[in-house]
Amino acid sequence: MKMLKNLDEMTPSQIVEELDKYIIGQSQAKRTIAVAIRNRTRRKRLPDEIREEVAPKNMILIGPTGSGKTELARRISHLSGAPFIKVEATKFTEVGYVGRDVESMIRDLMGIALQMVKKEVSENNAETIEAKVEERLLDLLLPQLDNSTGSLEEGKEKTREKFRELLKKGSFEEKEVEFQVTPAASPLGIEMFGGGNMDDIQNAMSSLTNMLKKPTKRTCTIKRAREIIREEEQDKLIDPDKINDEAKERVEQMGIVFIDEIDKIANAEGKNNSGQDVSREGVQRDILPIVEGTKVNTKWGVVDTTHILFIASGAFHVSKPSDLIPELQGRFPLRVELNELTVSDFEKILIEPKNSITMQYHELLKTEGVDVQFREDSITRIAEIAHEVNNTNENIGARRLYTILEKMLEELSFSADTLTGQTVTITADYVDKRLGNVIQDQDLSRFIL
Ligand SMILES: Nc1ncnc2c1ncn2[C@@H]1O[C@H](COP(=O)(O)OP(=O)(O)O)[C@@H](O)[C@H]1O
Ligand SMILES: [Mg+2]
Repeated sequence: MKMLKNLDEMTPSQIVEELDKYIIGQSQAKRTIAVAIRNRTRRKRLPDEIREEVAPKNMILIGPTGSGKTELARRISHLSGAPFIKVEATKFTEVGYVGRDVESMIRDLMGIALQMVKKEVSENNAETIEAKVEERLLDLLLPQLDNSTGSLEEGKEKTREKFRELLKKGSFEEKEVEFQVTPAASPLGIEMFGGGNMDDIQNAMSSLTNMLKKPTKRTCTIKRAREIIREEEQDKLIDPDKINDEAKERVEQMGIVFIDEIDKIANAEGKNNSGQDVSREGVQRDILPIVEGTKVNTKWGVVDTTHILFIASGAFHVSKPSDLIPELQGRFPLRVELNELTVSDFEKILIEPKNSITMQYHELLKTEGVDVQFREDSITRIAEIAHEVNNTNENIGARRLYTILEKMLEELSFSADTLTGQTVTITADYVDKRLGNVIQDQDLSRFIL
């Protein structure tokens, strides 16, 4: 499922258009993100001396719970091309985390970029790889013919072509063959020294053991052999140094780090004395150099974070962005507010996104032969109820739609297998019938919805 163009080449309006397919409203946030992303492409086109001066437009997304902050991040990551990682700021306040572990986000980002580049190389060479795999599978199927010579040559060719046909048709899938497996010598080498945290050391150990392993023989079906051989051929094509360089370049020039729940590490006023807050401020101080631009050691080399784009996000119900330490505030010059979602937003969220929840339920139940149709009035009713429950209970934004739909369709989901071949139309009445008593009872709805 190759998606659209590289994030690199997309104009701001194309990025917004893509985000619109999944996220309702929040156009200001979409625009700001799109511009920040585009700015990096623009920066890449600048002459060297100016380019070094242009800093990324880091931003903080501020908006109520369930308004689409994290969803925006997820969608950006799905637009291909730029390495992307999402971390929870609170993760770094957990016991056991100390200072430099914050750098793990950059190491992880580098790992993601490597996978990405490797996958691209394989995809771009898929044809060559498949052709090689086919030849090797034929060698396995026809070993006895390998050393025959002379007049047999022609017959050999014929047999091989016949086998090729059959192989393509899938006639040999379950046939067992014996072949040599070369254990994957870690294609990325073992340059861990200097980088070293525990993960790196473990990785290095396992690639060392792999290197010492002798090729082994194993027997398996053609189907499985194809997978193994394909992987081997993919690895052969990959030049570790080139891949490393490309991944590093992408991380440094196009990488995006999304720091979620940053409000949870901000100090709300008047609470400055508890131990919790000290550790929160500590995390801010740990994050600061990475956002300011520093060099992080990874097992793939040193990564400079100066031009990585940081997008932070939080509800800021209790704390405010101004509760962050000033140096960190200064590194996130853009503030974008996301709106509280309205009933009409909820209606749209239910049906419009490409991956909408109603579509998901429809597809799930279709597998049981049940055709669920959501009539317009039911959508309105669900949206209204979600809004109401958000007002009376805790406001969890669009997340409320999930709990409501789940509850409403519980019965149907359970008995779907008995309804095969039928069409079930969900109406406003149906919604009220299924949810009526739950909503009337405040206590009940607090637990169920
Ligand atoms: N504006 C929106 N458009 C479409 N879906 C949304 C929107 N806001 C929230 N959602 C849905 O609600 C869920 C929770 O949203 P999320 O982005 O995780 O909230 P938060 O703002 O708290 O990070 C998401 O999985 C998404 O499906
Ligand atoms: Mg979130």
